[in-house]
Formats: sequence, structure tokens, C-alpha cells
Amino acid sequence: MDTVSLSGKELAAAINADTKDRAAALTDRGAPPRLALIVANDDPASAWYVNSLRKAAERLGIACDTVDLGADASADAIRQELAARGTDGATDAIMLQTPLPSGITLEDVSSAIVATKDVDGVSPLSLGLLAAGLDGFVPATSEAVVELLKHHDIPLSGRHVVVVGRSNIVGKPLAQLLLAEDATVTVCHSRTADLAAVTVTADIVVAAAGRIGLVSGKHVRDGAVVVDVGTNEAPDGKIVGDVDAEAARGKAAGLSPVPGGVGPVTTALLMRHVVVAAENARMS
Ligand SMILES: NC(=O)c1ccc[n+]([C@@H]2O[C@H](COP(=O)([O-])OP(=O)(O)OC[C@H]3O[C@@H](n4cnc5c(N)ncnc54)[C@H](OP(=O)(O)O)[C@@H]3O)[C@@H](O)[C@H]2O)c1
Repeated sequence: MDTVSLSGKELAAAINADTKDRAAALTDRGAPPRLALIVANDDPASAWYVNSLRKAAERLGIACDTVDLGADASADAIRQELAARGTDGATDAIMLQTPLPSGITLEDVSSAIVATKDVDGVSPLSLGLLAAGLDGFVPATSEAVVELLKHHDIPLSGRHVVVVGRSNIVGKPLAQLLLAEDATVTVCHSRTADLAAVTVTADIVVAAAGRIGLVSGKHVRDGAVVVDVGTNEAPDGKIVGDVDAEAARGKAAGLSPVPGGVGPVTTALLMRHVVVAAENARMS
């Protein structure tokens, strides 16, 4: 079977073109949309990601402040900065970068991000709105998976989607978004007894575990669609996904590449959320 590459580049470009126009309109009316990136780590992969977000923002006409609190910041200091940005009239959008300092979880601090500026949908309020089917910002990576599938005309209604990973920022919100699209959803995790036995029953497998090669040929039914969310650093320094692409290719009807699949769509949606937050703020 020919395996179609589910590239995210074309979709990301279309989203970015719209975002750029909307950012320019906001700038013309007063000030560019402004994103605050809050960092509290000295992780090289995070620094690389923050830099790529800054460049993406710059290309689209979005102002971006990076606030580095240091890798030994306390939970109180992080919460204070998030709250201060929440009441700062010049800041439209807030994104807290992970990893956080040792011993501090996202859940310890994310409630300090005001929902109207929570462009990556990580606060308990944003996640609750999503679970209740109400309007709010949703985690960009989860949204990117759904948008990528729609872009490639892959139907979701009535299909069985198996999500591998149950984190609060990818797996769980993705399950909610897929339910809203009328998919039948199964969520797997590290305690799933026989992962392959579950994933082979799927029409669509989404790998979001952060484990190189976790999803191999035996996990994929002939003709299934596979979306690879994983971004892992291989021993040779290359960024690779969770799917053994060689094994899946030829079996799967479609496979998203890493890099170039979910990643660019995630960044594009994040930037679109920044513009939406700014538009909402200017209207209120
Ligand atoms: N492309 C993008 O834009 C983008 C954005 C965000 C994240 N990511 C990538 O997506 C991946 C997941 O991110 P995350 O933040 O959700 O990671 P995370 O918080 O570490 O969660 C990983 C999830 O995978 C599950 N898991 C781990 N090993 C497993 C195994 N052997 N079998 C089945 N499930 C397993 C874990 O189960 P337990 O709950 O039982 O521990 C957990 O639910 C990472 O590679 C990350 O870099 C990509």
C-alpha cells in the first residue's frame, strides 16, 4: 500500500497567511498582538523551541517578550509572573514553557494563567471548558492533530481513534476534541497491558508518548492512518517521532512526518490563538 505523507506545511502556511493579515490589522489600529513566553529552565531543547516561537512570531508581526525566571525559580515566583502578565494591559497572550524547575508540575502553577490569555489552553479553567464543550483556548498540539486530519480529508465521525498518551497538554485534550468530532476514542498509556492489541483495532492511531519507535508495524492495522506527535532527540541529535516510520510505511494509508507534520501546524495554531486573544481584548 502507498502511504500518503500527511504533511502539515501547506496547512500551516494557510493559517499563517491569515494570522499575518489579522496581526497587521491589529497593528494598524494601535499595537501589534503581544505574546509573553515565560521560561523557567535551562534546557537546550526548550531554548531551541522558544527561539523558533520567537522567530515565528516575528515573521507574523506578533511582538514577543521572553521572560526568563531561571531554572531555580520557585512555584510562587512563576505564579506571580503569570498573574502579573494576566493583569498587564500590554500583554495579550501568555505561554508557559516546559520543563519547569525540578519538583514543580504544570498543574502546580497553570491556574495562575488567566483563561483569556491562555493561548495553549493549559489552565484548569481552559481544560474544563474544553471538557464541557464550551468556548476557550485549546492546547495547540491537540488541535493541530484534528486540523491536520481534516486538512487531509480523513473523516473522524464514527471512526475508532486510539490515542497513545494521556498528558494534560496533549493526550487528554485530544481525546476531548476527537469526541467532539464524533469519533470513538480509546486512550492508552504506560500501564496499558497490551498496546499493540489495542492500536491494531484503530482506524486512526495518534502517537503522543514521547518514546522513540514505540509504534511499530505490529501496532498498525493495514490501511490505518497514523499521526505522529512525538518529538524526541535521537542519539545522533536528529528530531524523530514516536512511530517507526519504516515499519509503518507500506502498512498505513497515511503517516504524518516528523518533522513537518503536527509541529508546524501546532506553531501556526498557537500564533493564531495569540491574534484571537488580542482581537478579543481590543473588542472588550
Ligand atoms: N509536535 C508538537 O508540536 C508537540 C507539542 C507538544 C508535545 N510534543 C511531543 O509529544 C510527545 C508527548 O508529549 P507530552 O507532553 O504529552 O508527554 P508526557 O507528559 O511525558 O506524557 C507522555 C504520555 O505517554 C504515555 N506513555 C509513555 N510511555 C508509554 C508507553 N511505553 N506506552 C504507552 N504510553 C506511554 C505516558 O503514560 P503515563 O500517563 O502512564 O505516564 C503519558 O501519558 C513528546 O514527544 C513531546 O515532545 C510535540
